[in-house]
Amino acid sequence: MTFTTSLQRLTRLALSTLLLMLVGVGLLTARPSTALAAEASPPVDSAALSKAVVAMEQLDQMRISLASTLEGRTEEPTIETMKEVCKPVGMRAIAIGKENGWQVRQVASKYRNPDHAPANTQEREVIDLFSRHPEINGLWEPAVAEQGAGLNYYRRINVEPSCLACHGTKASRPAFIKDNYPDDKAFDLAVGELRGMYAVHLPEVQAALAAAAG
Ligand code: HEC
Repeated sequence: MTFTTSLQRLTRLALSTLLLMLVGVGLLTARPSTALAAEASPPVDSAALSKAVVAMEQLDQMRISLASTLEGRTEEPTIETMKEVCKPVGMRAIAIGKENGWQVRQVASKYRNPDHAPANTQEREVIDLFSRHPEINGLWEPAVAEQGAGLNYYRRINVEPSCLACHGTKASRPAFIKDNYPDDKAFDLAVGELRGMYAVHLPEVQAALAAAAG
């Protein structure tokens, strides 16, 4: 009787451990189409996961409010006004990474700054997915081989009316952009179109998942 009870307990323990592992593996192998950030139910360390999501929402709001300060201005943006929009966003992205032990990048296939070109196949695939599925706002992927451990969070960036001052037609780009970005591809964009994405690599999360499962 005692033996059966402890056996049952052991079985239950094994089953719940297996379940935890399956949830972990499910998260890590989930394909983009099923791994919508809104649907993700991370088993552990949800604080780090949601912190990354919130940080990218705040970063995006920062750009939108900076760009909106240009609206209604009649004069062409100068190098000074540029510093008030996308450059500080890029610097803030790097700072968020440093503060949290993550790597935060902006990525775009139609990039202005060549540093923001997609770095690997996963980034190209996620950009492609975002452009084909406007309803997908963010998603998680396992880190790619060259990143080592961890998870990647991707968050879309859309073109707003206020972006067109600098990302509108090729001819209408301010002179400082034509001069400073000879390989610029980030123009001829329409409102609502995909502009790019934020990419966050969280190296620690996979270790936390493994610890919880094992
Ligand atoms: C005043 C001009 C200006 C405005 C307005 C502006 N951008 Fe930019 N944007 C730039 C410049 C210049 C860069 C390159 C910055 C750098 O070198 O990191 C850039 C870069 C970016 C990048 C990084 C990827 C890349 O192509 O290098 C994204 C994403 C981006 N802009 C999105 C937006 C969005 C979204 C808006 C509107 C909400 C916007 N921008 C409004 C000038 C502008």
